[in-house]
Parts: sequence; structure tokens; C-alpha cells
Amino acid sequence: MIDFISGHAATDHYLRHGYTTVRGMSSRFAAAISAWCIKHQASLGIKGHFAEIGTFQGRYFIAQALALEPGELALGIDLFDWPSPATLEIFVANCRAWGVTEDRMVVWKADSTALSVPALSEKLTRDGESGLVRFFHIDGDHSPEPLRRDLELARAVLHPKGLICLDDMLHPGYPFLVTTVEHWLRANPDMRLMCVLDREDIVAAPKFLICHVDAVPLYENDMMRHFSAHHFVLGGDALGHFCVVLTPNPRIAEVD
Ligand SMILES: C[S@@+](CC[C@H](N)C(=O)[O-])C[C@H]1O[C@@H](n2cnc3c(N)ncnc32)[C@H](O)[C@@H]1O
Repeated sequence: MIDFISGHAATDHYLRHGYTTVRGMSSRFAAAISAWCIKHQASLGIKGHFAEIGTFQGRYFIAQALALEPGELALGIDLFDWPSPATLEIFVANCRAWGVTEDRMVVWKADSTALSVPALSEKLTRDGESGLVRFFHIDGDHSPEPLRRDLELARAVLHPKGLICLDDMLHPGYPFLVTTVEHWLRANPDMRLMCVLDREDIVAAPKFLICHVDAVPLYENDMMRHFSAHHFVLGGDALGHFCVVLTPNPRIAEVD
């Protein structure tokens, strides 16, 4: 197994020793790069919370929560009823076991598609101060209207320099889900697909990283440099703009 790491000590300890022991679906490759983004944001002075829709048992959530700075929160939203109601208890126990303490996390058992922005903002409020989210992972209901609603919710609380991360883009099981993202990006031209994180496997599918157009330079060059071993140098054509493509084993088809 390639040793994908984020450069954040606590997250990397979990990625090496805990990640595959916690049931879940996100790739370790994408989890490491996401946590690197969270660490990179802190180095740029970007402060804010982490939120995830669709935490399941906490595999990806724990990796990102451990990368946060003191005072920042990790908000986990899920129906917590699949495959059974025990998922909530298992999620909390996994977080505790891997060092995400309860003062750093907010657990919200809810249907994300029924949430309002004020209710979400209230969950992100500490000591009377309403915080923004600097990294928002969307991995809940993979059908068009719920994804559109989740994107709207994420956008409403996103730090201007923050990232929205979408799971299961280009997954063979959801071949047309990406069209919802295309429509959303066309309707929100100030937002851009900044990076594609390629799949490790069919159960560890690609993710998209989206941010405000003005925030793209905060990430793209540093990502290409830092992850040069995983950089697909041809990049991606994202609605007429270049996007970074990172893949576990970059290569280009050989042509004689
Ligand atoms: C693929 S799993 C998430 C995997 C997890 N993010 C990981 O990386 O291991 C999808 C989760 O989304 C949750 N979910 C589906 N629809 C939802 C909704 N409308 N609101 C909140 N959670 C939802 C499911 O309960 C399930 O736990």
C-alpha cells in the first residue's frame, strides 16, 4: 500500500494505523490530500470549521477533525440510521478512540436536505460567535436534487477562501451525478472546480475540490508542487478552465 500522508502528525498517525479499521468509503489518498489542504489553510491564516454531510462511522471525518487548529469545530451531519441506528454510537466511539474529543466536535443527526442555513449557522456558533466552514465535505444523498441542496447549504456557510469537497464524482454507480455539479457551477460562475482527486478503487472513488475563483491561486500551485509524485501533468479541462488532477499512480498512455 502506498503511504499517502498529509504532513499533519496526528492525522498521519490515524491514516497509518486507524483509517482502515474505521468502516467507510472515502479513499486514504483523498483523505490525506484533504487534511493537507486543512493544514495548508492554517499556514495561510485561514480559520474556520470542518463540516461533513454523510459521516457514516467516521473514517474520513476523523482524519480531517484531527487536522484542525485549537478552537475549530468538526461538525458531522448524518441520518445515522444506515445500516442500523447503532451507526451513531459507533461513530462517536470511533471519534473518541482516535482522539477527536467531544469539545471539538458537533454531532447532528439530521436529514441534510431539510436543513436551513440559520439552523446550520447555529451549530457552527461557539461562545456567541458564528463561524464559517473552511472545508466542507459533501458525501450524503447521491441524487441530483439533494446534492444541489447540499451544495447550496455548503456555499452559504463557506469561508471565502474555503473548499467544498464532493465525493463519488465520476463513480460508475452514479454516472450522471456530475451533471448536477456542472449545472451548479454554470449557475455559480464565481465558483470553480480547482482539483480532481482520482479514485483508488471503486469503493474509494474520485472527489472534486471546488472553491471561489479568487481562492484558486491559494491552492493550485502548492498542490502540484507538494503532490508532484501524484500529479497528472496534463491536468483537467474544467468548463474551459484548467484544474489540477492528482492520482495515486500518474501516467500517460503510451503512443508509438
Ligand atoms: C457513503 S456514506 C459516507 C461515507 C463517509 N463519508 C466515509 O468517507 O467513510 C453516505 C452517508 O450519507 C448518509 N446520508 C444519506 N442521505 C443523507 C441525508 N439526506 N442527510 C444526511 N445524511 C445522509 C448515510 O446515512 C450514510 O451514512
